[in-house]
Amino acid sequence: MDKIYLDHNATTPIAPEVLEIVTSVLQNQIGNPSSVHSAGRSARVLVDEAREKVASLIGASPSEIVFTSGGTEANNFALLGVALGLGKARGHIVTSQVEHPSILNPCLQLESLGFEVDRLKVGSSGCIEGLEDSLTESTLLVSLQHANSETGVLQDIERAGESTRKRGVLFHTDAVQSVGKIPIQVQDLPVDMMSISAHKLNGPKGVGALYLRKGSPDLFSPICGGGQEKKRRGGTENVAGIAGFGKACELARLSFQETSKLSSLRDHFLHLVSSQISGVEVFGDLENRLPNTLNLGFEGVEGDTLLIGLDMAGVAVSTGSACSSGTGLPSPVLTAMGIPTDKINSSIRFSFGRSNSIAEIERAVEILVRTVSTNRTGTHAERTIKT
Ligand SMILES: Cc1ncc(COP(=O)(O)O)c(C=O)c1O
Repeated sequence: MDKIYLDHNATTPIAPEVLEIVTSVLQNQIGNPSSVHSAGRSARVLVDEAREKVASLIGASPSEIVFTSGGTEANNFALLGVALGLGKARGHIVTSQVEHPSILNPCLQLESLGFEVDRLKVGSSGCIEGLEDSLTESTLLVSLQHANSETGVLQDIERAGESTRKRGVLFHTDAVQSVGKIPIQVQDLPVDMMSISAHKLNGPKGVGALYLRKGSPDLFSPICGGGQEKKRRGGTENVAGIAGFGKACELARLSFQETSKLSSLRDHFLHLVSSQISGVEVFGDLENRLPNTLNLGFEGVEGDTLLIGLDMAGVAVSTGSACSSGTGLPSPVLTAMGIPTDKINSSIRFSFGRSNSIAEIERAVEILVRTVSTNRTGTHAERTIKT
């Protein structure tokens, strides 16, 4: 029986067209894009073409795209770049409690250097609150995610960007989970910087980009070297990865009509699960969310036990529990939403992808019903409806 992959927010399978271009570049393109000879020029063309495709996906101009080694570096670049590049007069940064560690950890570093960081709270739906009140005369940068990786909740970055723009504060959004899943056009959004990662949109791992709006101030460059990326990010370009990233963006742009296919898969899954398993709770706002993500709590079952049972039966998912995170702490995102630890420890994230079929979803539900039934304990044991 084929495996059923329902963990697309962790990473996505590389699209065959992307694999083809990555392999072909690795095999046939030996040049360094900085070299003047024809092999170098040919590699440069590949990087430039990919830059156009990435820019086109988000409605940016190619000169506004800085290639990085992924979403983590793009986030680090935005935070450290702004703070260390411009932070002499104003040292206040606003972010949220539900950001990815590639935002939260550079914030900790900046605090140790004397910057002041506010981490906004979220309500029980996972929506970030209190931005207006947090802005002060010395706010330099606001960095808020677009979509949450664990719940899929979409933040109102339009409103947040309007607030920051009114006050002349730079606004960065970590859109690693949303770019490629839903249409995003930077000309319609009041964002100055936006992080993207190729492996979340069926591209290769280890490549991403920071969108940097034209006219933004010069940032400090955490990775400096031979002046690549207009001196914004040193290091010989990952030509094959960048070419694959470009192709993945092109495919994502063509696949937006499938967004409704993804949300119907997700809704069908939720309908089947809630009609066949009792004690199921959805975590996070059901309206404002990515079309592919569901975070569910299963009363009376340990998420880790479920994850292992599902994995053994061929279904790949994630949990928000303390054991899985490796930190010994339950998911900070679900904790920030005020969800009690026992419920967090019963949570499973299902994240669907373009290649999932209805048949796979239905098979996954059958397996889930069995696995919950086998592992439910105590008073909850009888509560799973057998199929
Ligand atoms: C919201 C978010 N930001 C940033 C990242 C980091 O991206 P990358 O894996 O490309 O470094 C991730 C990866 O899971 C993510 O979900």
